[in-house]
Order: sequence, then structure tokens, then C-alpha cells
Amino acid sequence: MNFRKQYEEYLNFFETRLKHFCAELDYRPPVLAESMRYSLLSGGKRVRPVLFFGMLEHYGLDYKAEFTLAAALECIHTYSLIHDDLPAMDNDDFRRGNPSNHKVFGEANAILAGDALLSEACSLLLGEGGKDGRHLRAAQYLAECAGPKGMIAGQSADLLYSEKEGDAEALAFIYAHKTGRLLKAPVVMAAILAERDIAAAERFGSELGNLFQLTDDLLDEKGERSKMGKTPGKDRKENKLTCVRIYGADEAELLADRAAANCHSALQNLGGDEFLAALVDFVRQRDN
Ligand code: IPE
Ligand code: IPE
Ligand code: MG
Ligand code: MG
Ligand code: MG
Repeated sequence: MNFRKQYEEYLNFFETRLKHFCAELDYRPPVLAESMRYSLLSGGKRVRPVLFFGMLEHYGLDYKAEFTLAAALECIHTYSLIHDDLPAMDNDDFRRGNPSNHKVFGEANAILAGDALLSEACSLLLGEGGKDGRHLRAAQYLAECAGPKGMIAGQSADLLYSEKEGDAEALAFIYAHKTGRLLKAPVVMAAILAERDIAAAERFGSELGNLFQLTDDLLDEKGERSKMGKTPGKDRKENKLTCVRIYGADEAELLADRAAANCHSALQNLGGDEFLAALVDFVRQRDN
């Protein structure tokens, strides 16, 4: 198994289909579709769709049959980034190597682009949910992960603890929700579609979500803007509650190593998988 080749196969499939999907967005006034397309096609890593496809193949399912659920997931993730960058939230001017959505289209249009992507995701999920019970349950799971029990809860806690004392428990809540839920979603959705052990999938998804935000916080501290495509040093500037603030950078690196080991152990519990194991190492070692 060649990890890069496999990642690229998933990525190319997703990008090709997403471009078609974006080409069909045709709304009045045109700024709506333009701003949605701008962020959707601005070249993220697509870790969530890739993880979803890897999990589907792990369970022996045809990943190409599930593009729509992957697209809904990426629409929700992209909307979360547009809103996260707004001046009222993290106030970030760069995203995915380009000016943030609100820097190009203005704040009001960026809010609406996010709203539109979330609504679009709802339509996609309802369409897929109509296929059969498995798709309905997978769609429901994603909707829950996106909402006030999921990513939104994490974003709300993230704002609450900016400039405010917080302990390891608060940090764990923020990680599990703002980032963890949308990484757990593709893992668990695949298990739902395959009718396999949900608890084992949830454990792997949670561990990976934790690792993902540990490395995100570490990159904010030590990463390079040219590689990350977003501005480093923002968390320190805004006094965000991060692993670096609580533990210091050296200890946080060790925590990330431990989190990666936990991911590998959870993966073993799922029966092991070469591609997914390499994906864990990629998340641990990433520079963007
Ligand atoms: C960034 O997510 C936001 C977090 C949840 C940490 P990604 O690092 O997956 O961003 P893209 O999609 O590759 O731009
Ligand atoms: C954001 O976490 C998580 C989201 C739900 C978008 P961050 O605020 O740390 O993500 P970046 O660093 O801006 O990508
Ligand atoms: Mg944020
Ligand atoms: Mg941010
Ligand atoms: Mg960050």
C-alpha cells in the first residue's frame, strides 16, 4: 500500500465530483454561489472525506457510491471555517492559502455563504437519507455532529474560554466538540453504512479528533504560514484555551505522540488497516 497514492486517488475522485457539484450551484444573486464555490474549491486537505472513503473501503464498501455524504460533510466543515474566520470569532484573514471568505466577499456575504453551505448540506443529507435506513441513520448522525451537541457546542466553548481560565477538562470538551465531532462523523457514518461495531468506530474517531486538534494547536504555535495556508500565532494572540497554553509546547508534543498511539490502538480494535494507520501518522506529522 502506497499511502500517498491512495490519498491522491480519494482526493482526485472527491475533487472531480465536487467541481461538478459546484458548477451546478446556480443561485440568484450570483454572489451567493460565487462565495460558496470560493471556499469549497479553495483546496483544503479533504481529510474528512478521505477518512470516510478509507473507512468505507476498510469495511469492504464502495466509496464512490457515497460521494454525496462526503460532500455534505465537507460543506459543513467549510461553512464552519468561514464562520470561524469572521472578525466576531477568530478574525483570521487567511484560509487555505487564500484571503478568508469575508475578506473577499465582505462579512455579511460570508455569513450567508456559511448559512447556504449548511442548508445545502441539509438538502444533500435528506436526499441520501431517503435511500434506505442505513443512509438515514448516517445522515442523522452527521446532522447531530454538526449541531449544538457537536461542533457548535465546541465553538461556543472555544469562545467562552478565550481570555478566560480553563482546565484540562474544559480543553477536552472543546477538542471533542469543535473538532472531534466532525472527524468522528466520517468514521461512525461508515460503520453505520456497513452495519458494523459502532462503539469501536466511535473510539477511533474520538482519538483521531483529539490528535487532530492537538496538532492544529501545535501548528498554530510553531507552524509556517506558507505551508499552513493560515496565519500562525493566532491562538496565543487571542489567548485561546489550547494544549500549548495549558501544558506548554514540549509537553503538548508528548501528548500528541500519546494521542497517535491511542489512535493506533483503537484502530487495532477495528481490525487494523494499513491506509488508516498511515493516515494517523500523517495527522501526527502534518505541517498544514
Ligand atoms: C481546520 O481543519 C479546522 C479544524 C477543525 C482544526 P483542517 O485542518 O481539516 O482544514 P482544511 O480543510 O484542510 O483547510
Ligand atoms: C476551529 O478550530 C474548529 C472549527 C470548528 C472550524 P480553530 O479555530 O483552531 O481552527 P483554525 O486553526 O482556525 O483552522
Ligand atoms: Mg476557532
Ligand atoms: Mg480559527
Ligand atoms: Mg487552530
